[in-house]
Formats: sequence, structure tokens, C-alpha cells
Amino acid sequence: MNSFYLRNFLRLNDFQKKDILFLIKYAQKLKFKKLIQQEKQKLKKKNIVLIFEKESTRTRCSFETALFDQGAKVTYLNSKDIHLGYKESIEDTAFTLGKIYDGIVYRGHQHKNIEKLAKYSKIPVWNGLTKSFHPTQILSDIFTIKEIFIQKKIKNIKISYIGDSKNNISNTLIEAANLLNFNLSLISPKKYLPNTKFLNSHNITINKKLNNILFTDNIKTGIYKADIIYTDVWISMGEDSNKIQEKIFLLKNYQVNKKILKLSDNPFVKVFHCLPALHDKKTIFGKKVIQKFNLKNGVEITDEVFQSNKKIIFQQSSNRVHLVKALIICSLIKNINF
Ligand code: CP
Ligand code: NVA
Repeated sequence: MNSFYLRNFLRLNDFQKKDILFLIKYAQKLKFKKLIQQEKQKLKKKNIVLIFEKESTRTRCSFETALFDQGAKVTYLNSKDIHLGYKESIEDTAFTLGKIYDGIVYRGHQHKNIEKLAKYSKIPVWNGLTKSFHPTQILSDIFTIKEIFIQKKIKNIKISYIGDSKNNISNTLIEAANLLNFNLSLISPKKYLPNTKFLNSHNITINKKLNNILFTDNIKTGIYKADIIYTDVWISMGEDSNKIQEKIFLLKNYQVNKKILKLSDNPFVKVFHCLPALHDKKTIFGKKVIQKFNLKNGVEITDEVFQSNKKIIFQQSSNRVHLVKALIICSLIKNINF
């Protein structure tokens, strides 16, 4: 039996290194099978519901495509379609859905909500992002890293994440670094670095013995010898807009630009972004922020850096399909032979 069978996938901490590596290997195989048009449908009789309380492009589309490819039936619900949390408790919604569906994909606000959904539905629940964690994103990123760095072991990779280090992406990177033992630097102004109170409130522990995770506000120290510079939006979905002013002011110097890339002292350094990215004035929000805060050529990343790294950035997002396909098959099918 595989380790994901009939289990929830809420955060990486619930799994072991061997489980994660197995899933990625299986995703690699599924990617290849799709490419050569030899994919076999394993989820034909399965019904899956997607509940998205926040907007999404990649996560919704990758889950839906993976499920369609595998022959499953899908229901998509946004927060206006259901009673959840307003006229019906999470418990009652979970009980109902658990009797109808084989699995639930959930994107929402507080992590405790997805825990409740999982507890009461008694069917596998997959995390499509909460305020605290975004595990399918980071696993797809590990998958992408394995494709790009063919010669290098994951434990020898250094990821320098720069920007807001108190969000779902940085939290999940910490959990991934704990499991896979790669070097991780989280680089932010002090206010946006995780402190003990923050880590405790998310039940995140750091394996100090490994000595592979660094929190720093010093850009030079954090970026030096990075293989990958990773960034994310400075303002996450659902964040209090009243705090934007101070936050952007503090993060201004932590923009991924050419100068920062040079600090890596690695001419082959790669740039990752989970997307969506504010790298130009082609979005309403991006334009507003760039003008209001007098930023240069982008918000968290400059257009120049984005354009020269976009092949990899879009590889990250398209790999989401294969990774979540592997995850759902493993969660619903007992024995996986490949
Ligand atoms: N990276 C990611 O999860 O993108 P979406 O918000 O578009 O799903
Ligand atoms: N931190 C971002 C990730 C988007 C994929 C957010 O939560 O909005």
C-alpha cells in the first residue's frame, strides 16, 4: 500500500522523505506518459469536489486537468456557491460532501478550516492553499528542481527565498527543507521573518541538528551561493489592505532584480516564482503599487529578471498538473505499480 492511500494532504510535515520522493517519481512518470499519449485512466469512477474560497488560476486548472485526464468527475464550488461557514458549519458541509464524493480539494483562509473539513468528511482532503501552507506548489517546485538540476542532489541545493517570509510559500519551504535537507535561506526585513511565536502558532518546528535553515534580513548573506532565488507576491490573498503601505515600504529593498542576482556570485542562478507575479504594469494592482510606491520595473520581481527566467517559472506552473495527478491517484488507489 502506498503511504498516501486514503490520507489527507494538508501539509508536508505529515509525510516522510521517502513518501515525497515516491510521489515526485510517480509524477515524472505520469508526465512522460501524457507526453507520449499513453496515459491510463485510473480515476474513472471517482467524483471530486473542489471548494475554492479564494481565486486561482494554476491550482484550480491543474487539479481539474489532472482529474479530467484521469477520467474523474469534478464539481467546482466557489464561496458564493455554497453555504459553508455562513449558513452551514464546516462540520455539516464536510459530513454531506463525505457521503457524496471520493475526495475534496480545498483552497481557503485559516488552516484550521481545512483540518476540520478533513476530520469530519472522512474522505481525503487535498490542500490547494491555505493562509499557512501551499504544499502542492512546493512539491511541484521540488519536481521542477529535479528536472533542472539533473546532476545535483537535492540536499546540495541552496534555495534563497526573498520577500515575505511569513506566508504560505515560505512556511511550506521550511517544511520541505526539514524533510529533504536542502539549504534554505529566508530573507526578509526583520518584521517579516518568522519568529518563535509565529512558528509556534503554525506548529512549525525546525530541525536544528540539520543546520540547513537560515533566517536573515541581510540580503548579501542570504543570497550568496544560491542555486535558486525564489520569490512570491508581497501581499497574499486575503491580507489586510490597511497594512499594505508599511509592508511594501519595508520590502522595497527585497525586490528580485539584477543587482540581487549578482549577489549570489553564481552566474547560473535560477529564479523561481510560484505565480501570479507582479513584474510589470499590465495588471490593475501591479500598476497601482508600482506607481504609488515608486518602484522600479516591477513589484517583487523586475520585468527584466522575470522575462529572462520565465521558461523555468512556467515549467514550475505546468508541473503542477502532473504532481497533483500523482497525489490524487496515490490517495485513491491502494497499490501503485510503476
Ligand atoms: N501558484 C498558485 O497556486 O497559483 P494560483 O493562485 O493561480 O492557483
Ligand atoms: N502567498 C500567495 C501565494 C499565491 C500562490 C498567496 O497566498 O496569495
